[in-house]
Formats: sequence, C-alpha cells, structure tokens
Amino acid sequence: MTQRTLVILKPDAVRRGLIGEIIGRIERKAGWTIPAMELRTLDAETLEAHYGEHKGKPFYEPLMGFMASGPVVVLVVEGERVIEGMRQLVGPTDPIAAAPGSVRGDFGTIVRENLVHASDGEESAERELKLFFPAL
Ligand code: CMP
Repeated sequence: MTQRTLVILKPDAVRRGLIGEIIGRIERKAGWTIPAMELRTLDAETLEAHYGEHKGKPFYEPLMGFMASGPVVVLVVEGERVIEGMRQLVGPTDPIAAAPGSVRGDFGTIVRENLVHASDGEESAERELKLFFPAL
C-alpha cells in the first residue's frame, strides 16, 4: 500500500545538525522516496492550523514558540506503509520512552524538542500534506 506522509524536522534537529542523519534513515528504507522537501521558517498561521487540536493544552504556547524559533525542514515521504513506518522510525512522543534505534530514542531527551513530526494517520497525513504542500 503506497502512501504519502508529512514529516517536519523541527528547529532542534536543524540547529543540532541532524538533518542529514534523519534524512539518511528515511532514504535507506527500501522503496521510500522524498517527492518534495523544503527548508522553511513556519509562520503563526501555519502553526495554528497544524497544531489546532492541541490549543488550550499547557504545552501549546511553548510549542508554538519553539516551532517558530528557527527553520524547519518539511518533507513529503512516499512509499510502502510510510505513515506507520515513519512513526516507528521516529519513535514515541517522549524521547526517554523511545527505544534506541528510533530517532527520538537515539537523539532526544526533551518531550517538546523531540526532533521530528510525522503524520499520525491517513486523515492527518492528507490534511497536513494539503497545508504544507498545497500545490502537490
Ligand atoms: P508531535 O507529536 O510531533 O506533535 C505535538 C507536539 O507537542 C509533540 O510532538 C511535542 O513536540 C509537543 N508535546 C506533546 N506533549 C507535550 C508535553 N507534555 N510537553 C511538552 N511538549 C509536548
């Protein structure tokens, strides 16, 4: 089942020089491709649309500040079962709970600065792909 998912390398990943490391892991998955990719600084409007479901939660405002704190890399990743596969590659939200071998398990310690976003299902992938790459 070929799918597309939306991935964001968050400002901490870019600042720490982990772009190549993370994209390398994606490229090494058999058959997965990156049909679109861009370095961008996200504006408040895009972030509000992306994180709308978290509005009102205690971590929402600091998350918005963090996500606007520097450039991110937004990517479309395409391939076999890529929605579930990217979530596995990235690991669970809390990096300390993430197994070694996953991106968050290998490089993360802080819940907010957890390096990577990947769409969590088919519906969110569709919505997020439209938001970040409307022309695709
Ligand atoms: P992600 O799962 O990509 O999308 C929601 C983000 O909110 C999550 O990554 C973290 O960056 C952040 N987040 C979620 N829960 C918390 C929390 N309890 N404290 C701080 N940040 C959080």
